[in-house]
Amino acid sequence: MASEKRLTPGAIRARKGTPFPVMTAYDAALARCVEEAGIDVILVGDSLGMVVLGYATTAAVSLDDMVRHGGAVVRGTRRAHVIVDLPFGTYEAGDEDAVRAAIALVRAGAGSVKLEGGVRVAARIAALTAAGIPVCAHIGVLPQPAGLDTGFRRKTDTAALLADARAVEAAGAFAVVLEMVDAQLSAEVTQAIAIPTIGIGSGPACDAQVLVLHDALGLYPNAPPFVKQYADLSGVAISALRDYAAEVRAGTFPPRP
Ligand code: KIV
Repeated sequence: MASEKRLTPGAIRARKGTPFPVMTAYDAALARCVEEAGIDVILVGDSLGMVVLGYATTAAVSLDDMVRHGGAVVRGTRRAHVIVDLPFGTYEAGDEDAVRAAIALVRAGAGSVKLEGGVRVAARIAALTAAGIPVCAHIGVLPQPAGLDTGFRRKTDTAALLADARAVEAAGAFAVVLEMVDAQLSAEVTQAIAIPTIGIGSGPACDAQVLVLHDALGLYPNAPPFVKQYADLSGVAISALRDYAAEVRAGTFPPRP
């Protein structure tokens, strides 16, 4: 699909204070639906591992997985800004690893990359932005270490969260995801920094909201409790497939000439 001029990180940053929707996507077909619905910021999250690839956590997701699915989302869209996650294992060891992995995502068409962590990864964010690669940060609950050890407990430590938010902003991130942060604390963080906060399970005060597409459309059975399910696409698919199976068994599909 030919690309028009895509929304830039600068334009997203300028949305600070105006609520906007962000949605994940993992393939060209559903990314096209997201864009046609008027959502112009799409995250190819490593939630890919659970909702599409059937893993229990994000730890098994590889850089090749993100390149393949990030590229598919880019090919399925025209003007959306596509953020692609740096998966676990691609940026823990050092800045050079992070920049190399991010370049692979940019070559696949990513407009920016996202990585998890605040103060701990500020140097990585600075290295990526110095290499010309726009970065969306991700603080609060961090699914990559949470799946391994730290758990998915809601974040309520004001001083730590504010320090993380300020560190990623100072390092050059153009936006920051706040995952499962106490709603009052999200409001404080959103006030304290000049880049947009993108909330997931973090209350209404964030500048933007993001949901995992398969949770929102009813395609994943283990959605977290804060998710609003906007459709039951599993139900629609099962019903259509039952109709097809019944027609084949009855000999009514394909129709006889
Ligand atoms: O991987 C993902 O989909 C994410 C969102 C939950 C923000 O990081």
